[in-house]
Amino acid sequence: MEDFRENIIPHSHAIDRSERQAQKKHKSKVLWFTGLSGSGKSTLAGQLESYLYNQGFSTYILDGDNVRTGLNRDLDFSDESRKENIRRISEVSKLFVDAGVIVLTAFISPFKKDRAAAKGIIGAEDFIEIHVDCPLEVCEQRDVKGLYKKARAGEIKSFTGIDSPFEEPDNPDIRVNTATNSMDLCLRELIHNIENKIKL
Ligand code: ADX
Repeated sequence: MEDFRENIIPHSHAIDRSERQAQKKHKSKVLWFTGLSGSGKSTLAGQLESYLYNQGFSTYILDGDNVRTGLNRDLDFSDESRKENIRRISEVSKLFVDAGVIVLTAFISPFKKDRAAAKGIIGAEDFIEIHVDCPLEVCEQRDVKGLYKKARAGEIKSFTGIDSPFEEPDNPDIRVNTATNSMDLCLRELIHNIENKIKL
């Protein structure tokens, strides 16, 4: 069978990533937040984005619940769909990096192999893994969206932490603990850790 991909020839455009980074005066990276639902990924990504934006950086947030209402609305929470969710997000993030933008992604991304695949697509040098560490008990106690309650009642199947696993990163670039530290402290830790990485 003919492989249609053989006939796709990518074009190198005149304006490339380095031009865009030079114009924006900073590097583009992916800040990949991973953690349980309710751990604080979206909150922290949002606060970090506000900080960076106010400093003049070009940023964009890709957030699980938001992306799943559009681009990924066809995907459920089976292992296969989560894999495809992360693959699409990784490809989109890669385009943003090429556009010179700092991308903050906030997805549970529970499986090690999917996060490794994301790192492979984006490129190790551009992928900064941030583990938003918070014990299940605390996330469940917070239950901001009321989803843990539903999962415990059996109304949601394959809920991460309940009947679907979360595989903690062994060696994230940054780990912040939102159970033992204030959001403010976590944010300062993040800023401290990434500032050097985005300097041109
Ligand atoms: S991921 O596992 O595929 O990375 P993603 O971050 O996109 O998940 O979406 C997680 C969000 O979807 C949660 O914050 C929660 O609001 C919602 N959600 C709905 N059903 C589930 C489920 N079964 N497991 C986890 N999150 C769910």
